[in-house]
Amino acid sequence: MNDALDFFANPRAAGPRGALPLGPLTRADFEAAEAALTAWPGYAPSPLRRLDGLARETGLGAVFYKDEATRFGLGAFKPLGAGFAAARAAQRALAAHGCEAEVADIVAGRWREALADVTLASATDGNHGRALAWAARAFGARCEIHIHAAVSQGRADAIAAFGARVTRTSGGYDDSVRAVFDEAARRGWIVVQDTAAGSYRDAPLDITAGYGLIAGEIARQLDAPPTHVFAQAGVGGLASALAARFALEWGARRPFFVTLEPTRAACVLASLRAGRPVALTGDIDTAMAGLSCGEVSAIAWEVLETGADAAISLSDDWAFAGMRRLADPAPPDAPIVGGECAGGAVGALMALAALPEARVALGLDASSRVLLIGTEGATDPAIYAGITGRAPEAVAG
Ligand SMILES: Cc1ncc(COP(=O)(O)O)c(C=O)c1O
Repeated sequence: MNDALDFFANPRAAGPRGALPLGPLTRADFEAAEAALTAWPGYAPSPLRRLDGLARETGLGAVFYKDEATRFGLGAFKPLGAGFAAARAAQRALAAHGCEAEVADIVAGRWREALADVTLASATDGNHGRALAWAARAFGARCEIHIHAAVSQGRADAIAAFGARVTRTSGGYDDSVRAVFDEAARRGWIVVQDTAAGSYRDAPLDITAGYGLIAGEIARQLDAPPTHVFAQAGVGGLASALAARFALEWGARRPFFVTLEPTRAACVLASLRAGRPVALTGDIDTAMAGLSCGEVSAIAWEVLETGADAAISLSDDWAFAGMRRLADPAPPDAPIVGGECAGGAVGALMALAALPEARVALGLDASSRVLLIGTEGATDPAIYAGITGRAPEAVAG
């Protein structure tokens, strides 16, 4: 195995003419989330940028970059999932007390009195918790967020700035998930977590449906489907949402779907290789903080088992190289502020440019039109400046 980049072609991939890899998700789920989210105050589609300089540099026909840094002013795509799932969780909590509430009214804060005693909780490696705290504040609910030891102080502070109580737990991300479920059971909190396991599926399904809006926007922003998509996977929520929604949008014309993970936290790659979900043990710490997950969500696995055509893992160094390339691009590309997870996608293309065997296996050549997901901007500005040598405002003001 190459430490810098590993890849695996999935022998169980459905392929373009196979059954649509939808898992438990339906068109109605995606449509309901989209109708709710596009009506939220502050909603705007995120930009899809064309990176011709990067395409030339990496020997590809075209590269598109879906820039999620602007999403609802939170710096990452996460509010689409956490926000929608939080609203639905609040709706279910109100229904249990005999109140029929519309999601739009919850979002507008019209149920804040009734929700004042409701606590929304989750574990996070940063971005999901920030988005949940943002949503809880808008609805008038309380928020409890558990973070693990490696989550940066900058990310913890950004969550607390939305009024959430932040608790550091021992162990890694997966331990913090278990800790928040235990504490929620004791204290009556409502957990809004992106990982499905056992009978816990409502919130992860809502989160995945919310993320699907990214794919819906892309389908409207592009004239024709891309040939390839590279989607970062932490617990696999984003990747599964995109794979399922692209399959619905484009059917047999859907792109070759590649998941992207850090070398040390490549649980989707390991699971595809094993043919069943594999929980990674040991150190899964990575600079790509949002991807520091050792267990794939059950719902994500139901999609990716056949919906991922291939999986890639790559070292943090490539993510850093990708961040620097976004900040200082080849002409005619304009500078973009992309955080660690977004840099990973660009770094993957840069790494692949020098790996002919992997390019052949993934079907990448000068005619490929590749879609990357810029999942985050500078979600921790100090870390961003440390890696790129420049403050985010100096890169793109
Ligand atoms: C910036 C960023 N990119 C990608 C991901 C991966 O998303 P998922 O955990 O749904 O696979 C995350 C998750 O936290 C993230 O914060």
